[in-house]
Amino acid sequence: MARRKLLMGNWKMYKTVAQARAFAEELGRQTSRLSPAVDYAVCPPFTALHALRVILPSCVKLGAQNVHFAEEGAYTGEIAPGMLTELGVQYVLVGHSERRNVFHEPDAWMRQKVAAVAAHGMTPVLCVGEDLAEREAGRTLAVVEAQTVSGIADVRAEQASQMVIAYEPVWAIGTGRTPTPADAQEVIAYIRQVVAREKGEAAAAGVRILYGGSVKPDNIAGFTSQPDIDGALVGGASLDPSSFVAMAEAV
Ligand code: G3H
Repeated sequence: MARRKLLMGNWKMYKTVAQARAFAEELGRQTSRLSPAVDYAVCPPFTALHALRVILPSCVKLGAQNVHFAEEGAYTGEIAPGMLTELGVQYVLVGHSERRNVFHEPDAWMRQKVAAVAAHGMTPVLCVGEDLAEREAGRTLAVVEAQTVSGIADVRAEQASQMVIAYEPVWAIGTGRTPTPADAQEVIAYIRQVVAREKGEAAAAGVRILYGGSVKPDNIAGFTSQPDIDGALVGGASLDPSSFVAMAEAV
């Protein structure tokens, strides 16, 4: 079965509840421009999840930007998977480069987060990608391979087939620089091969792999028209409803 395209906005630490509501209301006025053949999601700050659950158009699903893998516990500042399902969250970002590099989350946590999210019936979105030094050293494929192998280690093949992986070169995030669509396709095809080796062909055929990093309305189609690129994870350009809809029409 063909993989459905997915457009996902990651709002990072932007938008108050009032601003999130305004986004949802504007998107609600433009839903006729959203194709039923494409999946859509936004990942707001935790504080806006409840408000968006109530007013976001039903074709746009909710995502969370992070999660802890424990069921509950003395983990100040953390959010458990069950707290997200209670709010209607469907997707959860795991291992975004800002979590890895700014907050120094260890690689070893990623597999536990991916497994916990899947066990709770949500879709993990495992983020992988090389930084500039790694790219310049010719280590891109080795880096994404290691992050992918480690990130999916604790999920079963059928869970892997349902998950999402986002390839986000760190040097492309928020910089306006991107790899060419052909370069992104090459890396993403490689990630799919890695999934096939680790979890089997069915998992590789099912897993959706997104490109992320300086995606905008005018460059998204170049990426999503590649055979192995199943959509985009978008930061800055997802904050404005008109820009989100323009990307939705081009994905
Ligand atoms: O999660 C999204 C990525 O970090 C990309 O962010 O589209 O602002 O470059 P950006």
